[in-house]
Amino acid sequence: MRFITIFLSTLLLLPVSAAQAREISVASPDGKLQVTVFERASRPYYRVDFDGKPLLRESRLGLEFRDIPNLTETIEVAEVSRNQIESRWEQPWGEQRRIHDHHNELLVSLTRTEAPKLELNVRFRVFDDGIGFRYEMPAQRGLTRANVVGDMSEFGFADAADIEALHIDGQNRDRYELVYRSVPLESVHTAATPITFRRSDGVHASIHEAALVDWAGFTLVQRHNPKTLRAQLTPWSDGIAVKATLPFKSSWRTLQVADSAVGLLNSHLILNLNEPNQLGDVSWVNPGKYTGVWWEMHRQEYTWGSGDNHGATNERVKARIDFAADYGFDGVLVEGWNVGWDGNWIDNEGVDFSFTETYADFDMPMLSAYGAERGVKIIGHHETSGNVALYEDKLEDALDYYAGHGVEQIKTGYVAWAKGLRRVDEKGFSRYEWHDGQWSANHHLRVIKEAAERKIAINAHEPIKDTGLRRTYPNWISREGARGMEYNSVGAGAGVNPPDHDVTLVYTRMLSGPMDFTPGVFDLLYPDLDTPARVKSTLVHQLALYVVLYSPIQMVPDYRQFYERYPDAFQFIRDVPTDWEQSIALQGVMADHVVFARQERDSSDWYLGAITGNEARKLDVPLDFLDAGASYTAQIYRDGKSAHWDDAPYDYVIEEKRVDAGDVLKVRVAAGGGLAVRFIRN
Ligand code: NOJ
Ligand code: CA
Repeated sequence: MRFITIFLSTLLLLPVSAAQAREISVASPDGKLQVTVFERASRPYYRVDFDGKPLLRESRLGLEFRDIPNLTETIEVAEVSRNQIESRWEQPWGEQRRIHDHHNELLVSLTRTEAPKLELNVRFRVFDDGIGFRYEMPAQRGLTRANVVGDMSEFGFADAADIEALHIDGQNRDRYELVYRSVPLESVHTAATPITFRRSDGVHASIHEAALVDWAGFTLVQRHNPKTLRAQLTPWSDGIAVKATLPFKSSWRTLQVADSAVGLLNSHLILNLNEPNQLGDVSWVNPGKYTGVWWEMHRQEYTWGSGDNHGATNERVKARIDFAADYGFDGVLVEGWNVGWDGNWIDNEGVDFSFTETYADFDMPMLSAYGAERGVKIIGHHETSGNVALYEDKLEDALDYYAGHGVEQIKTGYVAWAKGLRRVDEKGFSRYEWHDGQWSANHHLRVIKEAAERKIAINAHEPIKDTGLRRTYPNWISREGARGMEYNSVGAGAGVNPPDHDVTLVYTRMLSGPMDFTPGVFDLLYPDLDTPARVKSTLVHQLALYVVLYSPIQMVPDYRQFYERYPDAFQFIRDVPTDWEQSIALQGVMADHVVFARQERDSSDWYLGAITGNEARKLDVPLDFLDAGASYTAQIYRDGKSAHWDDAPYDYVIEEKRVDAGDVLKVRVAAGGGLAVRFIRN
């Protein structure tokens, strides 16, 4: 009887196993994630299972071309090779010094079954915390170049569960400077990445991309199935997405997966999919804190342009240098120092920016010497207002100028509406490009490499999205790429950031890498509670942001007088480092709250930062991240009893306690509130 059963099932399974022969699978090192590649009706597909349950159902693969057939159909899928990789590497600076890269790799070929028999490979890497795949087109006979017009990569979520998606629209006028929305996946029509998903059973996932080099960034668009999103490459102004020379490889399409929200925050998948440091010794890239002649322009009390209220005067820059020196900050950003701000600079009407000519009341040699005397670096600023063609023409002179004055860090800016970056084509005509297209990707890397040659680090605003290239080019020190503090200023026409904005960033934009958010405004209401321009948070929330929103450079933007009004709270900003030995997201709920612990680099001190969104919440935080057996002095900055972002943002308490790894910190955090703690090892 037993024999018969086995015999029967073998017979029944025969047709299935023939089909399975074309299924090629690869699992994560812990076996929880599994990717399966297969073909159906001569089309290539993949699907993903997590914890034995479908996460992505069959989702299409392939690229579309202009002059050759699409490699999306009439395809045969075959396994090419497999690999297992485990390595450990170190970041020169970062949120985590040591990073573990452990993954299984599968390379498959997609070959056209009809002439021309072209071949495209797809490389999958499966980690415990997610997957990455990219297209690789090997050199093949008769083909040297290819114009890619589309990416067929789909992310088709399995139907079983309800899925909530936290995201902003793709290809929006304001680029990435939008307010994040949480909606059912079926209501996402377009999305920029990272976009983050929460399944009703608690599984979390996020789609993004890694190592965007000489390729077009993608956004996501909904397909015929409302739970399926498809990659949409950002085209050049002539409609082609990627102008590629064979052999080529795309950026990695990534799907981070975890069974909790904090699992996503503790993932290093994006960095692991980037190439190692190509710059060698980068000891000249310095994390740190900086102030600047900046917030005063956003408060509209001073101007970038010349005139009676010009911000970047010798006197005001010196005062900022004194402020930095007196409180131990490293740099002073100066905006509005160069000719070109008078007139409608945003629309490039009137004069062009000069990157070497200063306004008359700004004396670069004197100020850099004054800064040097006081141990403070001037931080440079290159606003392009989207005229990238001009910036590229002047780039070498612009960087040489700053290098000649001892500047080690430059903030760049690409203020322009989406598809507003000016390029000059071969015929000399102006064309306008997206911030995330292939041309922009190449522009950013050109700036990074030219800057590296002069030992200058770059902090780009209105940038291309972060895809982890700081690993390969560690002088790409930070960037903006979301609504930062500037949206809470008088000048922000589009409305201030809502109280839960910062915590939504944690679960979306911050998954891609450091952000120059510029936290730490102390004058939260200017001039009073009823003004539309205000910061919708408590004061302690501002402190906590230095721990929560990771960046190796953090600004201290507000006026000296406002910090000196609350010197006890200001102490936290003076103490908090910007470079970490390790970071752990301890607790959190997507778009609601988060708790991070980070250990200072080369120190035994730990810092803790927590923020909430719209709701107050009681936190119980076990301190088991501290060294067992050691005792610490905890300097606790917390919201007071009546604190609320709306009507009592200044209600805060500072207290000191002795704690150890066995303790649980119990704290109430207000709506729009925060918690900031320094643990000093005794
Ligand atoms: C937008 C940037 O994000 C902001 O920081 C800067 O001050 C202005 N552009 C002017 O360059
Ligand atoms: Ca901006």
